[in-house]
Amino acid sequence: MGCQMNDYDSDYLAQFLVNNGFSPVNTPDNADLILINTCAVRAKPEQKAYSFLGRMSSIKKGNPNLILGMVGCLAQMKGPELLKRFPQLDLVIGPRELGRFQEILEGIDRHSGKIVATDLDLAPPQPAPCKGYFHKRITGHISIMEGCNNFCSYCIVPYVRGREISRPPDEILAEAENLLSEGIKEITLLGQNVNSYLWEGERKKWGFPALLNELSRLNGLLRLRFTTSHPKDLSDDLIHSFHYIKNLCPHIHLPFQAGSNRILKLMKRGYTRERYLELIDKLRKINPAIAITSDVMVGFPGESDKDFELTLGLIRLVEFDSLFSFKYSDRKGTSAEKMDGKIDEIVKASRLNVLQDLQKEITLKRNKALEGRQLEVLVEGSSKRGGQLTGRTASHKVVNFISNNTQIGSLHKVTIKRSFLNSLWGEIVE
Ligand code: 5AD
Ligand code: SF4
Repeated sequence: MGCQMNDYDSDYLAQFLVNNGFSPVNTPDNADLILINTCAVRAKPEQKAYSFLGRMSSIKKGNPNLILGMVGCLAQMKGPELLKRFPQLDLVIGPRELGRFQEILEGIDRHSGKIVATDLDLAPPQPAPCKGYFHKRITGHISIMEGCNNFCSYCIVPYVRGREISRPPDEILAEAENLLSEGIKEITLLGQNVNSYLWEGERKKWGFPALLNELSRLNGLLRLRFTTSHPKDLSDDLIHSFHYIKNLCPHIHLPFQAGSNRILKLMKRGYTRERYLELIDKLRKINPAIAITSDVMVGFPGESDKDFELTLGLIRLVEFDSLFSFKYSDRKGTSAEKMDGKIDEIVKASRLNVLQDLQKEITLKRNKALEGRQLEVLVEGSSKRGGQLTGRTASHKVVNFISNNTQIGSLHKVTIKRSFLNSLWGEIVE
């Protein structure tokens, strides 16, 4: 129910279960084990998790042998409290406990009662290869680091994912090779802050650009991506990677959160509006066509109309390809939760509307500018509309097109005929 890291963790658990004799079922009514992988970043995914858990609890009432577990960031945040609120729940497992899943499963077998596992000290585990698990997928993910040391004042992540820890390069390379052998063509490297990747080996110190470089050489890897980067740690070396690593896609997701220096300071982001704009300039100098996407929040405590105008101004200046935008949401235990000047929900909603309308105009304008261009598309599968294929450009835009003899998993040139807000439509260059 959360970010790409949350998806990645779900894949970890599913592979683990398949390797241990479980098989997926089509409906939760037929399941022996249900794990709900939750997100805690805002109130909305939290509510979604509770309502889903409520539905799964009623299935369990009719099937007492069913094991019901909540995993992920919300499980970490709430811990044993969840067992009181949801008596049907058997397992509460935080995201840093996945490496103990074997033990947890053995506990279930021994019927040793309910389990709450919420330590934050374990290193992220290596998924065991699970033959055929990724078949039909063209794109895959690898977590290269986990946790966060930044403590932005609004953010729950450092509390639920623990301190930053990087995975060893040989594990990451082995995981990438396994994905490629399963037919994956594009890999996205994941981390709460990938720029902080650091591995100090016996002979070599690995920073993130070095890791990217090594991975990019793997045979059969058509495309490499990464997310998320923190503006505070975006080095010139990493910016240059967009020039010299040929299969690194020209797309960066660089959350800016707010356009006012006063708010950025309250958020403890560690950069100014001017510094952020400087980074955008550097990225566009290296590659003028680079796609830039971002996250932004409205209604942070104390945000005035003037601060909000500065956020809109930054959006107009940068012209992001797309934006994820959110209303600030109090997270218990963060320092923003204790701040004065909380913004009324109605004001937040109206600011969000204004911001999203502005971004829609910009996204459409940028997409329209691609009409008539030939772009390389990695074909990922059939589109929801019958008879069409779908894929993405290197800049991560969805392209739908008609073709009878195009292979899924290969790169093709497509002429863009029409652009919409969320996708492009084109014709294959045969
Ligand atoms: N309220 C609203 N949005 C938040 N995000 C993180 N914490 C909060 C919060 N408390 C947003 C940020 C972040 C994205 C993953 O979620 O924009 O980049
Ligand atoms: Fe991902 Fe953060 Fe949500 Fe956890 S809280 S699932 S790390 S977005």
